[in-house]
Amino acid sequence: MTLPPKLNRLGLAHRLLLSLPPEPAHRCAILALKAAQASAAGRSVLRRHAPQPDSRLEQTFLGLRFPNPVGLAAGFDKDGEIIAAAAELGFGLIEVGTVTPRPQRGNPRPRLFRHRRERSLENCMGFNNAGGPALRARLHRASAATVPLGINLGKNKDTPNEKAIDDYLELVEGLDGCCDYFVVNVSSPNTPGLRDLQNRRFLDQLLVAVEEVTKVPVFIKLSPDLVRDEAIDLVATAVAAGAAGAILTNTTAEHALLPSARRVGGLSGAVLRERSFALLDAVASELYGSCLLISVGGIESGREVYRRLRAGASLVQLYTALVYNGPGLLGAIASELIEHLSADGFESVGAAIGVDR
Ligand code: FNR
Repeated sequence: MTLPPKLNRLGLAHRLLLSLPPEPAHRCAILALKAAQASAAGRSVLRRHAPQPDSRLEQTFLGLRFPNPVGLAAGFDKDGEIIAAAAELGFGLIEVGTVTPRPQRGNPRPRLFRHRRERSLENCMGFNNAGGPALRARLHRASAATVPLGINLGKNKDTPNEKAIDDYLELVEGLDGCCDYFVVNVSSPNTPGLRDLQNRRFLDQLLVAVEEVTKVPVFIKLSPDLVRDEAIDLVATAVAAGAAGAILTNTTAEHALLPSARRVGGLSGAVLRERSFALLDAVASELYGSCLLISVGGIESGREVYRRLRAGASLVQLYTALVYNGPGLLGAIASELIEHLSADGFESVGAAIGVDR
């Protein structure tokens, strides 16, 4: 029996997940994706929901081929468990982590909350992850990723900021050779003091040191709560020190954006959209062309992807929209993006990037 599109197997699973509390739902999603990626039949179910490959969406830069510009944002697959499944679902790039040098449990539960009406999430996970060596072992066991793979790096909660540089360097040394790009995450609101590392001195010192250890491109990931000039200055500093560009943005701690916020963690999803766009727009207005920008925050449609590309982002990522819309979202985004490209006479994604600058 063929189920109507809304009730296909993945659609049903997604509905079921949304009826569970958020963190158990996330764990179930990871386990289901893990099971699916382990068999040819499972992979083919995942693939059925992926956007059709389309050369208009492809790009190559940094020596990497991106089949489409929509990536899975950090935090969904912290331990690199479902990389193959995410590629089958149609993500054009995948970022795992945040990983810290030593495993840590993260903050006490509950630490993930849905704000369903506002299509937003609030989380104070606190970098729960299995640690750098475990990620390295898992990536070595897995077959090579079929789309570019990034690893997002953080410091352990009990590492004082004066020693934070050692945590990042230890991770880069341990994980070099396992990925296509690294991300220095200094913008999670859930590790006390982490965002204080968003300063010129730290980024300059760290990126110069990282350059000596790895040849893969390095990005910095910033908070949407930075003021415009500060963000521009930090990206410029990072690029001068060797970074390939920036990922804009992480979750926001501006709880006023969501009246029902519990005020315990970072907000993502629709409430973050304009704040995230504003920071991209500010940074791109000064630095577009001198570095690569990856935009993330509140993206849930092809129209929004198109807007970010036009503003100067070469790639985008999403997390929250996947939670609320399920994996069918990627196909919808790809079709809508192609419609926008065609309507405006662009032959490919690459031709639309930065046209608003
Ligand atoms: C995140 N995000 C995140 N970012 C990061 O750099 N490291 C991390 O470990 C996490 N963890 C994490 C957990 C949860 C539950 C959420 C919802 C988000 C932030 C994420 O990568 C992204 O920057 C924001 O969520 C904004 O994008 P969306 O969700 O609005 O598409």
